[in-house]
Amino acid sequence: MGGCSILLLLPRRLPGRTCGRAASSLSALRPAETLPGPPGWPLMGSLPDVLWKGGLKRQHETLAQYHRRFGKIFRMKLGAFDSVHIAAPCLLEALYRRESACPQRLEIKPWKAYRDYRDEGYGLLILEGKDWQRVRSAFQKKLMKPREVVKLDTAINEVLEDFMYRIDEICDHNGQMEDVYSEFNKWSFESICLVLYGKRFGLLQQDVEEESLNFIKAVKTMMATFGMMMVTPVELHKGLNTKVWQAHTKAWDDIFKTAKHSIDCRLQKHSGNPQEDFLCDIYSGGHLSRKELYAAIAELQIAGVETTANSLLWALYNLSRNPHVQEKLFQEIQRVLAAQESPSAESLRNMPYLKACLKESMRLTPSVPFTTRTIDTEMVLGNYVLPKGTVLLINSHALGCSEEHFRGWPEFRPERWLRRGSVHPFCHVPFGLGKRMCVGRRLAELQLHLALCWLLRKFHVVATDREPVETLHSGILIPSRALPIAFQPRAGCKK
Ligand code: HEM
Repeated sequence: MGGCSILLLLPRRLPGRTCGRAASSLSALRPAETLPGPPGWPLMGSLPDVLWKGGLKRQHETLAQYHRRFGKIFRMKLGAFDSVHIAAPCLLEALYRRESACPQRLEIKPWKAYRDYRDEGYGLLILEGKDWQRVRSAFQKKLMKPREVVKLDTAINEVLEDFMYRIDEICDHNGQMEDVYSEFNKWSFESICLVLYGKRFGLLQQDVEEESLNFIKAVKTMMATFGMMMVTPVELHKGLNTKVWQAHTKAWDDIFKTAKHSIDCRLQKHSGNPQEDFLCDIYSGGHLSRKELYAAIAELQIAGVETTANSLLWALYNLSRNPHVQEKLFQEIQRVLAAQESPSAESLRNMPYLKACLKESMRLTPSVPFTTRTIDTEMVLGNYVLPKGTVLLINSHALGCSEEHFRGWPEFRPERWLRRGSVHPFCHVPFGLGKRMCVGRRLAELQLHLALCWLLRKFHVVATDREPVETLHSGILIPSRALPIAFQPRAGCKK
Protein backbone atom coordinates (compact mmCIF):
# COMPACT_ATOMS: atom_id res chain seq x y z
CA MET A 1 0.00 0.00 0.00
CA GLY A 2 2.85 2.32 -0.74
CA GLY A 3 1.20 4.62 -3.27
CA CYS A 4 0.74 7.55 -0.92
CA SER A 5 2.84 10.42 -2.24
CA ILE A 6 2.85 12.18 1.13
CA LEU A 7 4.54 9.13 2.64
CA LEU A 8 7.35 9.29 0.10
CA LEU A 9 7.91 13.00 0.58
CA LEU A 10 8.10 13.05 4.33
CA PRO A 11 11.03 12.67 6.64
CA ARG A 12 10.26 10.39 9.59
CA ARG A 13 9.21 13.39 11.64
CA LEU A 14 9.07 17.05 10.73
CA PRO A 15 11.14 18.91 13.34
CA GLY A 16 9.22 21.31 15.54
CA ARG A 17 5.97 20.66 13.78
CA THR A 18 4.42 17.78 15.69
CA CYS A 19 1.68 18.25 18.22
CA GLY A 20 0.77 14.63 18.86
CA ARG A 21 1.89 12.55 21.79
CA ALA A 22 5.62 12.90 21.14
CA ALA A 23 5.43 16.64 21.62
CA SER A 24 3.53 16.51 24.88
CA SER A 25 4.50 15.35 28.30
CA LEU A 26 2.36 12.47 29.52
CA SER A 27 1.22 14.45 32.57
CA ALA A 28 -0.33 17.09 30.29
CA LEU A 29 -2.71 14.58 28.74
CA ARG A 30 -6.38 15.43 29.11
CA PRO A 31 -9.58 13.45 28.64
CA ALA A 32 -11.75 14.02 25.55
CA GLU A 33 -14.53 15.43 27.78
CA THR A 34 -12.39 18.53 28.37
CA LEU A 35 -12.10 19.38 24.66
CA PRO A 36 -13.35 22.88 23.81
CA GLY A 37 -16.31 23.27 21.49
CA PRO A 38 -19.51 25.15 20.73
CA PRO A 39 -22.11 25.27 23.49
CA GLY A 40 -24.69 22.49 23.38
CA TRP A 41 -28.35 22.10 24.37
CA PRO A 42 -29.82 19.00 26.01
CA LEU A 43 -30.55 16.32 23.36
CA MET A 44 -29.87 18.68 20.44
CA GLY A 45 -26.28 19.57 21.24
CA SER A 46 -25.00 22.34 18.95
CA LEU A 47 -27.59 21.68 16.25
CA PRO A 48 -29.48 24.97 16.88
CA ASP A 49 -26.25 26.97 16.49
CA VAL A 50 -25.31 25.12 13.28
CA LEU A 51 -28.81 25.65 11.90
CA TRP A 52 -28.75 29.31 12.87
CA LYS A 53 -25.43 29.74 11.06
CA GLY A 54 -26.93 28.48 7.77
CA GLY A 55 -27.67 24.80 8.38
CA LEU A 56 -25.97 21.68 7.07
CA LYS A 57 -25.52 23.28 3.63
CA ARG A 58 -23.17 25.87 5.09
CA GLN A 59 -21.61 23.51 7.59
CA HIS A 60 -18.12 23.86 6.06
CA GLU A 61 -18.11 27.59 6.85
CA THR A 62 -19.44 27.04 10.35
CA LEU A 63 -16.70 24.49 10.99
CA ALA A 64 -14.04 26.96 9.80
CA GLN A 65 -15.49 29.56 12.20
CA TYR A 66 -15.44 27.06 15.07
CA HIS A 67 -11.81 26.23 14.36
CA ARG A 68 -10.93 29.94 14.49
CA ARG A 69 -12.71 30.18 17.82
CA PHE A 70 -11.74 26.90 19.52
CA GLY A 71 -8.44 26.09 17.86
CA LYS A 72 -7.07 23.14 15.93
CA ILE A 73 -9.10 20.52 17.77
CA PHE A 74 -12.62 20.74 19.19
CA ARG A 75 -15.59 18.54 20.00
CA MET A 76 -19.16 18.97 18.84
CA LYS A 77 -22.43 17.14 19.32
CA LEU A 78 -25.22 17.36 16.75
CA GLY A 79 -28.12 15.53 18.34
CA ALA A 80 -26.73 12.10 19.19
CA PHE A 81 -23.83 12.49 16.74
CA ASP A 82 -20.68 13.19 18.70
CA SER A 83 -17.49 14.07 16.81
CA VAL A 84 -14.01 15.51 17.27
CA HIS A 85 -12.81 17.97 14.61
CA ILE A 86 -9.23 18.54 13.54
CA ALA A 87 -7.71 21.10 11.17
CA ALA A 88 -3.97 21.40 11.70
CA PRO A 89 -1.12 19.73 9.81
CA CYS A 90 0.55 18.56 13.01
CA LEU A 91 -2.61 16.71 14.07
CA LEU A 92 -3.13 15.23 10.62
CA GLU A 93 0.44 14.04 10.63
CA ALA A 94 0.01 12.52 14.11
CA LEU A 95 -3.16 10.76 12.96
CA TYR A 96 -1.44 9.52 9.83
CA ARG A 97 1.51 8.11 11.76
CA ARG A 98 -0.77 6.25 14.16
CA GLU A 99 -3.39 4.95 11.77
CA SER A 100 -4.10 1.24 11.81
CA ALA A 101 -3.70 -1.20 8.91
CA CYS A 102 -7.34 -0.71 7.87
CA PRO A 103 -8.57 2.78 8.79
CA GLN A 104 -12.33 3.27 8.88
CA ARG A 105 -14.56 6.09 7.71
CA LEU A 106 -18.06 6.77 8.92
CA GLU A 107 -20.42 4.05 7.66
CA ILE A 108 -22.70 4.74 4.69
CA LYS A 109 -25.54 2.62 6.03
CA PRO A 110 -28.06 3.11 3.18
CA TRP A 111 -25.58 1.72 0.66
CA LYS A 112 -24.84 -1.30 2.82
CA ALA A 113 -28.57 -1.87 3.34
CA TYR A 114 -29.14 -2.01 -0.43
CA ARG A 115 -26.24 -4.38 -1.05
CA ASP A 116 -27.40 -6.77 1.70
CA TYR A 117 -30.97 -6.57 0.43
CA ARG A 118 -29.97 -7.52 -3.15
CA ASP A 119 -27.01 -9.69 -2.22
CA GLU A 120 -24.59 -7.38 -4.05
CA GLY A 121 -20.97 -6.78 -3.03
CA TYR A 122 -19.35 -3.84 -1.22
CA GLY A 123 -16.87 -1.50 -2.91
CA LEU A 124 -14.01 0.57 -1.50
CA LEU A 125 -16.21 3.31 -0.09
CA ILE A 126 -17.98 0.93 2.29
CA LEU A 127 -15.70 -2.07 2.70
CA GLU A 128 -13.83 -2.50 5.96
CA GLY A 129 -11.03 -4.59 7.46
CA LYS A 130 -9.20 -7.28 5.53
CA ASP A 131 -11.70 -7.27 2.64
CA TRP A 132 -11.13 -3.55 2.13
CA GLN A 133 -7.36 -4.10 2.22
CA ARG A 134 -7.52 -6.85 -0.42
CA VAL A 135 -9.75 -4.94 -2.84
CA ARG A 136 -7.85 -1.71 -2.25
CA SER A 137 -4.54 -3.31 -3.07
CA ALA A 138 -5.96 -4.75 -6.34
CA PHE A 139 -7.03 -1.26 -7.48
CA GLN A 140 -4.11 0.59 -5.94
CA LYS A 141 -1.70 -1.18 -8.28
CA LYS A 142 -3.45 0.31 -11.29
CA LEU A 143 -4.83 3.59 -10.03
CA MET A 144 -2.14 4.92 -7.73
CA LYS A 145 0.98 3.98 -9.68
CA PRO A 146 1.97 7.00 -11.81
CA ARG A 147 3.35 4.81 -14.61
CA GLU A 148 0.01 3.01 -14.89
CA VAL A 149 -2.20 6.10 -14.68
CA VAL A 150 -0.31 7.99 -17.39
CA LYS A 151 -1.47 5.34 -19.86
CA LEU A 152 -5.00 6.71 -19.51
CA ASP A 153 -4.25 10.10 -21.07
CA THR A 154 -5.33 9.04 -24.58
CA ALA A 155 -8.81 8.05 -23.39
CA ILE A 156 -9.15 11.23 -21.32
CA ASN A 157 -8.07 13.38 -24.29
CA GLU A 158 -10.55 11.65 -26.59
CA VAL A 159 -13.41 12.80 -24.36
CA LEU A 160 -11.93 16.26 -23.87
CA GLU A 161 -11.71 16.83 -27.61
CA ASP A 162 -15.44 16.11 -27.88
CA PHE A 163 -16.13 18.31 -24.88
CA MET A 164 -14.53 21.29 -26.64
CA TYR A 165 -16.98 20.87 -29.56
CA ARG A 166 -19.81 20.50 -27.10
CA ILE A 167 -18.92 23.80 -25.40
CA ASP A 168 -18.83 25.52 -28.80
CA GLU A 169 -22.25 24.12 -29.56
CA ILE A 170 -24.06 25.01 -26.37
CA CYS A 171 -22.58 28.39 -25.42
CA ASP A 172 -24.67 31.41 -26.34
CA HIS A 173 -23.15 34.46 -28.08
CA ASN A 174 -21.82 35.66 -24.69
CA GLY A 175 -20.01 32.38 -24.11
CA GLN A 176 -22.40 31.32 -21.36
CA MET A 177 -24.09 27.95 -20.82
CA GLU A 178 -27.52 27.50 -19.40
CA ASP A 179 -26.56 24.70 -17.03
CA VAL A 180 -22.82 24.68 -16.72
CA TYR A 181 -22.99 22.33 -13.75
CA SER A 182 -24.79 19.53 -15.63
CA GLU A 183 -22.58 19.94 -18.68
CA PHE A 184 -19.38 19.51 -16.67
CA ASN A 185 -20.90 16.51 -14.89
CA LYS A 186 -21.65 14.94 -18.26
CA TRP A 187 -18.02 15.44 -19.25
CA SER A 188 -16.65 13.75 -16.13
CA PHE A 189 -19.24 10.97 -16.36
CA GLU A 190 -18.24 10.25 -19.95
CA SER A 191 -14.57 10.43 -19.08
CA ILE A 192 -14.65 8.07 -16.09
CA CYS A 193 -16.95 5.63 -17.93
CA LEU A 194 -14.48 5.37 -20.79
CA VAL A 195 -11.73 4.55 -18.27
CA LEU A 196 -13.79 2.08 -16.24
CA TYR A 197 -15.97 0.39 -18.85
CA GLY A 198 -13.92 1.04 -21.95
CA LYS A 199 -16.95 2.39 -23.76
CA ARG A 200 -18.47 5.71 -24.69
CA PHE A 201 -21.91 6.56 -23.35
CA GLY A 202 -22.43 9.42 -25.82
CA LEU A 203 -23.34 12.01 -23.17
CA LEU A 204 -21.62 14.80 -25.06
CA GLN A 205 -23.69 14.24 -28.18
CA GLN A 206 -26.78 16.16 -29.15
CA ASP A 207 -29.09 13.14 -28.87
CA VAL A 208 -28.18 11.02 -25.92
CA GLU A 209 -29.26 7.38 -25.92
CA GLU A 210 -31.93 6.29 -23.47
CA GLU A 211 -29.66 3.80 -21.68
CA SER A 212 -27.09 6.51 -20.96
CA LEU A 213 -29.68 9.00 -19.77
CA ASN A 214 -31.16 6.39 -17.43
CA PHE A 215 -27.72 5.62 -16.07
CA ILE A 216 -26.85 9.23 -15.26
CA LYS A 217 -30.36 9.76 -13.84
CA ALA A 218 -30.00 6.68 -11.61
CA VAL A 219 -26.73 7.99 -10.17
CA LYS A 220 -28.38 11.36 -9.48
CA THR A 221 -31.38 9.74 -7.77
CA MET A 222 -29.19 7.47 -5.69
CA MET A 223 -27.13 10.45 -4.50
CA ALA A 224 -30.24 12.52 -3.82
CA THR A 225 -31.90 9.84 -1.69
CA PHE A 226 -29.15 8.49 0.53
CA GLY A 227 -28.67 11.67 2.63
CA MET A 228 -32.12 11.34 4.18
CA MET A 229 -31.37 7.76 5.21
CA MET A 230 -28.08 8.81 6.78
CA VAL A 231 -29.91 10.99 9.31
CA THR A 232 -32.97 8.78 9.87
CA PRO A 233 -32.72 5.00 10.46
CA VAL A 234 -32.44 3.16 7.16
CA GLU A 235 -34.03 0.05 8.74
CA LEU A 236 -37.16 2.13 9.29
CA HIS A 237 -37.24 3.23 5.65
CA LYS A 238 -36.74 -0.34 4.52
CA GLY A 239 -39.33 -1.75 6.94
CA LEU A 240 -41.96 0.83 5.94
CA ASN A 241 -40.90 0.64 2.29
CA THR A 242 -40.86 4.45 2.16
CA LYS A 243 -40.71 6.36 -1.11
CA VAL A 244 -37.10 7.29 -0.37
CA TRP A 245 -36.15 3.63 0.09
CA GLN A 246 -38.01 2.62 -3.09
CA ALA A 247 -36.32 5.34 -5.16
CA HIS A 248 -32.91 4.51 -3.69
CA THR A 249 -33.31 0.79 -4.40
CA LYS A 250 -34.57 1.34 -7.92
CA ALA A 251 -31.66 3.70 -8.62
CA TRP A 252 -29.07 1.17 -7.41
CA ASP A 253 -30.82 -1.57 -9.44
CA ASP A 254 -30.39 0.55 -12.57
CA ILE A 255 -26.78 1.42 -11.75
CA PHE A 256 -25.84 -2.22 -11.19
CA LYS A 257 -27.67 -3.37 -14.31
CA THR A 258 -25.71 -1.04 -16.61
CA ALA A 259 -22.41 -1.47 -14.73
CA LYS A 260 -22.61 -5.27 -14.81
CA HIS A 261 -23.47 -5.38 -18.49
CA SER A 262 -20.64 -3.01 -19.42
CA ILE A 263 -18.10 -4.84 -17.24
CA ASP A 264 -19.09 -8.27 -18.61
CA CYS A 265 -18.67 -7.00 -22.19
CA ARG A 266 -15.26 -5.56 -21.39
CA LEU A 267 -14.02 -8.74 -19.70
CA GLN A 268 -15.22 -10.84 -22.59
CA LYS A 269 -13.66 -8.57 -25.20
CA HIS A 270 -10.21 -8.80 -23.62
CA SER A 271 -10.38 -12.37 -22.35
CA GLY A 272 -7.57 -13.42 -24.70
CA ASN A 273 -5.12 -10.83 -23.40
CA PRO A 274 -6.35 -9.54 -20.04
CA GLN A 275 -3.05 -7.91 -19.04
CA GLU A 276 -3.43 -5.37 -21.83
CA ASP A 277 -6.64 -3.91 -20.46
CA PHE A 278 -6.94 -1.73 -17.35
CA LEU A 279 -9.97 -3.49 -15.86
CA CYS A 280 -9.22 -7.03 -17.01
CA ASP A 281 -5.73 -6.78 -15.56
CA ILE A 282 -7.17 -5.94 -12.12
CA TYR A 283 -9.64 -8.81 -12.31
CA SER A 284 -7.21 -11.36 -13.71
CA GLY A 285 -5.01 -10.90 -10.63
CA GLY A 286 -7.56 -13.18 -8.95
CA HIS A 287 -7.83 -11.10 -5.77
CA LEU A 288 -11.46 -10.15 -6.07
CA SER A 289 -14.67 -11.90 -7.05
CA ARG A 290 -16.89 -10.80 -9.95
CA LYS A 291 -19.43 -9.56 -7.37
CA GLU A 292 -16.77 -7.41 -5.70
CA LEU A 293 -15.58 -6.13 -9.07
CA TYR A 294 -19.10 -4.95 -9.98
CA ALA A 295 -19.51 -3.13 -6.66
CA ALA A 296 -16.03 -1.63 -6.65
CA ILE A 297 -16.39 -0.26 -10.20
CA ALA A 298 -19.85 1.18 -9.53
CA GLU A 299 -18.46 2.98 -6.47
CA LEU A 300 -15.38 4.26 -8.30
CA GLN A 301 -17.69 5.80 -10.81
CA ILE A 302 -19.93 7.37 -8.20
CA ALA A 303 -16.97 8.72 -6.25
CA GLY A 304 -15.32 10.12 -9.36
CA VAL A 305 -17.97 12.05 -11.29
CA GLU A 306 -19.22 14.97 -9.23
CA THR A 307 -15.97 15.44 -7.32
CA THR A 308 -13.95 15.86 -10.52
CA ALA A 309 -16.53 18.01 -12.32
CA ASN A 310 -16.78 20.34 -9.32
CA SER A 311 -13.05 20.65 -8.93
CA LEU A 312 -12.78 21.69 -12.57
CA LEU A 313 -15.61 24.19 -12.25
CA TRP A 314 -14.09 25.72 -9.13
CA ALA A 315 -10.68 25.95 -10.82
CA LEU A 316 -12.24 27.79 -13.77
CA TYR A 317 -14.15 30.04 -11.42
CA ASN A 318 -10.98 30.94 -9.49
CA LEU A 319 -9.04 31.55 -12.73
CA SER A 320 -11.82 33.74 -14.09
CA ARG A 321 -11.54 35.93 -10.95
CA ASN A 322 -7.76 36.13 -11.28
CA PRO A 323 -7.01 36.97 -14.94
CA HIS A 324 -3.30 37.56 -14.29
CA VAL A 325 -3.00 33.97 -12.98
CA GLN A 326 -4.93 32.66 -15.96
CA GLU A 327 -2.62 34.53 -18.33
CA LYS A 328 0.49 33.17 -16.61
CA LEU A 329 -0.92 29.65 -16.80
CA PHE A 330 -1.84 30.11 -20.47
CA GLN A 331 1.74 31.20 -21.19
CA GLU A 332 3.09 28.08 -19.46
CA ILE A 333 0.80 25.81 -21.50
CA GLN A 334 1.76 27.56 -24.75
CA ARG A 335 5.44 27.27 -23.91
CA VAL A 336 5.25 23.52 -23.34
CA LEU A 337 2.88 22.48 -26.13
CA ALA A 338 3.56 22.97 -29.81
CA ALA A 339 0.73 24.39 -31.94
CA GLN A 340 -1.90 21.67 -32.55
CA GLU A 341 -0.17 19.32 -30.08
CA SER A 342 -2.53 17.66 -27.60
CA PRO A 343 -1.45 17.78 -23.97
CA SER A 344 -0.28 14.44 -22.56
CA ALA A 345 0.74 13.01 -19.21
CA GLU A 346 4.34 13.52 -20.37
CA SER A 347 3.88 17.21 -21.23
CA LEU A 348 2.26 17.88 -17.83
CA ARG A 349 5.60 17.12 -16.20
CA ASN A 350 6.81 20.48 -17.43
CA MET A 351 3.87 22.47 -16.10
CA PRO A 352 4.50 23.23 -12.43
CA TYR A 353 2.32 26.33 -12.47
CA LEU A 354 -0.65 24.31 -13.71
CA LYS A 355 -0.29 21.94 -10.77
CA ALA A 356 0.07 24.85 -8.35
CA CYS A 357 -3.12 26.43 -9.75
CA LEU A 358 -5.10 23.25 -9.12
CA LYS A 359 -3.71 22.90 -5.59
CA GLU A 360 -4.59 26.51 -4.81
CA SER A 361 -8.10 26.04 -6.16
CA MET A 362 -8.58 22.89 -4.11
CA ARG A 363 -7.38 24.74 -1.02
CA LEU A 364 -9.90 27.57 -1.34
CA THR A 365 -12.78 25.60 -2.84
CA PRO A 366 -12.29 21.90 -2.18
CA SER A 367 -14.85 19.57 -3.70
CA VAL A 368 -14.86 17.47 -0.53
CA PRO A 369 -14.42 19.83 2.45
CA PHE A 370 -13.95 17.08 5.02
CA THR A 371 -13.53 13.36 5.45
CA THR A 372 -13.98 11.17 8.50
CA ARG A 373 -12.28 8.46 10.53
CA THR A 374 -13.68 6.20 13.21
CA ILE A 375 -10.66 5.41 15.33
CA ASP A 376 -10.26 1.76 16.20
CA THR A 377 -7.95 2.18 19.18
CA GLU A 378 -7.41 4.79 21.88
CA MET A 379 -5.33 7.63 20.45
CA VAL A 380 -3.73 10.83 21.71
CA LEU A 381 -4.20 13.85 19.48
CA GLY A 382 -3.16 17.34 20.52
CA ASN A 383 -2.79 16.24 24.18
CA TYR A 384 -6.31 14.81 24.33
CA VAL A 385 -6.92 11.12 24.89
CA LEU A 386 -9.57 10.02 22.38
CA PRO A 387 -11.25 6.72 23.18
CA LYS A 388 -11.69 3.91 20.64
CA GLY A 389 -14.77 4.55 18.49
CA THR A 390 -14.31 8.35 18.41
CA VAL A 391 -15.50 9.85 15.10
CA LEU A 392 -12.94 12.30 13.75
CA LEU A 393 -13.73 14.93 11.14
CA ILE A 394 -10.71 15.99 9.14
CA ASN A 395 -11.64 19.50 8.04
CA SER A 396 -9.53 20.21 4.98
CA HIS A 397 -11.62 23.25 4.02
CA ALA A 398 -11.08 24.84 7.44
CA LEU A 399 -7.36 24.11 7.17
CA GLY A 400 -7.25 25.85 3.78
CA CYS A 401 -8.80 28.99 5.26
CA SER A 402 -6.38 29.26 8.16
CA GLU A 403 -4.25 32.41 8.29
CA GLU A 404 -1.64 30.55 10.35
CA HIS A 405 -0.92 28.10 7.53
CA PHE A 406 -1.77 30.22 4.49
CA ARG A 407 -0.85 33.87 4.87
CA GLY A 408 -3.45 36.01 3.11
CA TRP A 409 -5.60 32.91 2.79
CA PRO A 410 -8.55 34.49 0.87
CA GLU A 411 -6.19 35.36 -2.01
CA PHE A 412 -5.79 32.96 -4.93
CA ARG A 413 -1.99 32.73 -5.11
CA PRO A 414 -0.69 29.54 -6.80
CA GLU A 415 2.88 30.78 -6.27
CA ARG A 416 2.66 29.79 -2.61
CA TRP A 417 2.89 26.12 -3.68
CA LEU A 418 6.05 26.65 -5.71
CA ARG A 419 8.34 27.80 -2.93
CA ARG A 420 9.96 24.63 -1.65
CA GLY A 421 9.10 23.87 1.98
CA SER A 422 6.74 26.83 2.41
CA VAL A 423 3.63 24.68 2.82
CA HIS A 424 3.54 21.78 5.27
CA PRO A 425 2.76 18.58 3.28
CA PHE A 426 -0.23 17.84 5.53
CA CYS A 427 -1.78 21.19 4.59
CA HIS A 428 -2.73 19.74 1.20
CA VAL A 429 -5.31 17.05 1.90
CA PRO A 430 -8.20 17.53 -0.59
CA PHE A 431 -8.01 13.80 -1.32
CA GLY A 432 -7.83 12.73 2.32
CA LEU A 433 -4.81 11.05 3.80
CA GLY A 434 -3.04 7.84 4.63
CA LYS A 435 -4.00 4.35 3.58
CA ARG A 436 -7.59 5.30 2.96
CA MET A 437 -6.78 8.32 0.82
CA CYS A 438 -8.77 8.72 -2.43
CA VAL A 439 -7.77 5.86 -4.70
CA GLY A 440 -8.78 7.92 -7.75
CA ARG A 441 -6.51 10.82 -6.86
CA ARG A 442 -3.98 10.38 -9.64
CA LEU A 443 -6.68 9.76 -12.23
CA ALA A 444 -8.59 12.83 -11.06
CA GLU A 445 -5.47 15.00 -11.17
CA LEU A 446 -4.63 13.77 -14.66
CA GLN A 447 -8.16 14.50 -15.86
CA LEU A 448 -8.16 17.97 -14.29
CA HIS A 449 -4.71 18.96 -15.53
CA LEU A 450 -5.49 17.83 -19.07
CA ALA A 451 -8.91 19.49 -18.99
CA LEU A 452 -7.41 22.81 -17.91
CA CYS A 453 -4.90 22.63 -20.78
CA TRP A 454 -7.63 22.00 -23.35
CA LEU A 455 -9.98 24.62 -21.96
CA LEU A 456 -7.49 27.43 -21.43
CA ARG A 457 -5.85 26.98 -24.81
CA LYS A 458 -9.17 27.34 -26.53
CA PHE A 459 -11.02 29.77 -24.27
CA HIS A 460 -10.45 32.79 -22.20
CA VAL A 461 -12.55 32.09 -19.13
CA VAL A 462 -14.05 35.32 -17.87
CA ALA A 463 -16.02 36.33 -14.82
CA THR A 464 -19.58 37.46 -15.35
CA ASP A 465 -21.54 39.54 -12.92
CA ARG A 466 -23.19 37.14 -10.49
CA GLU A 467 -21.33 35.47 -7.64
CA PRO A 468 -22.01 31.77 -7.10
CA VAL A 469 -23.48 30.44 -3.90
CA GLU A 470 -21.71 27.32 -2.87
CA THR A 471 -23.62 24.74 -0.88
CA LEU A 472 -22.70 21.50 0.76
CA HIS A 473 -24.66 18.60 -0.69
CA SER A 474 -24.09 14.95 0.34
CA GLY A 475 -20.63 15.95 1.57
CA ILE A 476 -19.64 17.69 -1.69
CA LEU A 477 -19.20 21.44 -2.09
CA ILE A 478 -21.10 22.39 -5.22
CA PRO A 479 -21.43 25.71 -7.02
CA SER A 480 -24.85 27.03 -7.88
CA ARG A 481 -26.03 26.01 -11.33
CA ALA A 482 -25.43 29.44 -12.80
CA LEU A 483 -21.69 29.57 -12.10
CA PRO A 484 -20.84 33.07 -13.32
CA ILE A 485 -18.22 32.26 -15.93
CA ALA A 486 -18.18 32.63 -19.69
CA PHE A 487 -16.05 30.94 -22.33
CA GLN A 488 -14.69 33.41 -24.89
CA PRO A 489 -12.83 31.76 -27.76
CA ARG A 490 -9.21 32.89 -27.96
CA ALA A 491 -7.91 34.41 -31.17
CA GLY A 492 -7.50 31.67 -33.77
CA CYS A 493 -9.92 29.38 -31.90
CA LYS A 494 -13.17 30.83 -33.19
CA LYS A 495 -16.24 28.63 -33.47
C1 HEM B 1 -11.08 15.93 -7.68
C2 HEM B 1 -11.68 14.77 -7.57
C3 HEM B 1 -11.75 13.98 -6.30
C4 HEM B 1 -11.71 14.39 -5.01
C5 HEM B 1 -11.59 15.81 -4.48
C6 HEM B 1 -11.81 13.22 -4.18
C7 HEM B 1 -11.78 13.23 -2.80
C8 HEM B 1 -11.84 12.10 -2.02
C9 HEM B 1 -11.74 12.10 -0.59
C10 HEM B 1 -11.55 13.31 0.29
C11 HEM B 1 -11.84 10.81 -0.18
C12 HEM B 1 -11.80 10.32 1.26
C13 HEM B 1 -10.35 9.96 1.58
C14 HEM B 1 -10.09 9.72 3.05
O1 HEM B 1 -11.03 9.38 3.77
O2 HEM B 1 -8.93 9.91 3.46
C15 HEM B 1 -12.01 9.99 -1.35
C16 HEM B 1 -12.14 8.61 -1.34
C17 HEM B 1 -12.35 7.85 -2.47
N1 HEM B 1 -12.34 8.30 -3.77
FE1 HEM B 1 -12.04 10.18 -4.39
N2 HEM B 1 -11.93 12.14 -4.99
C18 HEM B 1 -11.89 12.55 -6.29
C19 HEM B 1 -11.92 11.76 -7.43
C20 HEM B 1 -12.07 10.40 -7.44
C21 HEM B 1 -12.09 9.57 -8.61
C22 HEM B 1 -11.88 10.06 -10.06
C23 HEM B 1 -12.32 8.30 -8.20
C24 HEM B 1 -12.43 7.02 -9.01
C25 HEM B 1 -11.64 6.70 -9.98
C26 HEM B 1 -12.42 8.32 -6.75
C27 HEM B 1 -12.65 7.22 -5.96
C28 HEM B 1 -12.60 7.22 -4.59
C29 HEM B 1 -12.76 6.03 -3.77
C30 HEM B 1 -13.08 4.62 -4.28
C31 HEM B 1 -12.58 6.42 -2.45
C32 HEM B 1 -12.60 5.51 -1.24
C33 HEM B 1 -11.18 4.96 -1.05
C34 HEM B 1 -11.03 3.97 0.09
O3 HEM B 1 -11.72 4.10 1.09
O4 HEM B 1 -10.18 3.08 -0.04
N3 HEM B 1 -12.26 9.61 -6.33
N4 HEM B 1 -12.00 10.78 -2.47
